[in-house]
Amino acid sequence: MKKVNVESPEETMEYGNKLSQYLAPKDVILLDGDLGAGKTTFTKGLAKGLGIKRNIKSPTFTIIREYKGGRLPLYHMDIYRLDDGSGDELGLEEYFNGDGVNVIEWSKYIADELPDNYLKIIFKRDDSKSENYRTISFEPKGKRFEDMVEKVFE
Ligand SMILES: Nc1ncnc2c1ncn2[C@@H]1O[C@H](COP(=O)(O)OP(=O)(O)O)[C@@H](O)[C@H]1O
Ligand SMILES: [Mg+2]
Repeated sequence: MKKVNVESPEETMEYGNKLSQYLAPKDVILLDGDLGAGKTTFTKGLAKGLGIKRNIKSPTFTIIREYKGGRLPLYHMDIYRLDDGSGDELGLEEYFNGDGVNVIEWSKYIADELPDNYLKIIFKRDDSKSENYRTISFEPKGKRFEDMVEKVFE
């Protein structure tokens, strides 16, 4: 597990950008933390790193948004609005076995649907420090993601 403190949205995006270099199809990245912690901001940096030009928005009514045109397709999922445990109806399996990178906000709502290996990233605010202060923890599961985290922090 690696932990880092950042003090601006740009710094958070830079970590997303860095991580994006090492991503391959079928990778699953879980982003957890409270509303406003920085999950979508991180995804923006990741998308930019993949060469995606479109602006990343929090999926509102759609749970899954697809972004093409970069080095790899990005499947950005926001499970927050899925509060009825219907995760098995999303067809996540197909995305996880597909041609792109999967980035999932609020993965705790689909704990049963997760693959064996993934990289979980947890965002925490600390308002006692400053409004823009965040702690980002990288918690890889499986060798591929352990190695990936090492590279991000090289
Ligand atoms: N260090 C930081 N990292 C990420 N976002 C930050 C940071 N400091 C301030 N912010 C702001 O906090 C908000 C985070 O929102 P967002 O990324 O949508 O959160 P989430 O997707 O976790 O709900 C944005 O308005 C962003 O500009
Ligand atoms: Mg979000």
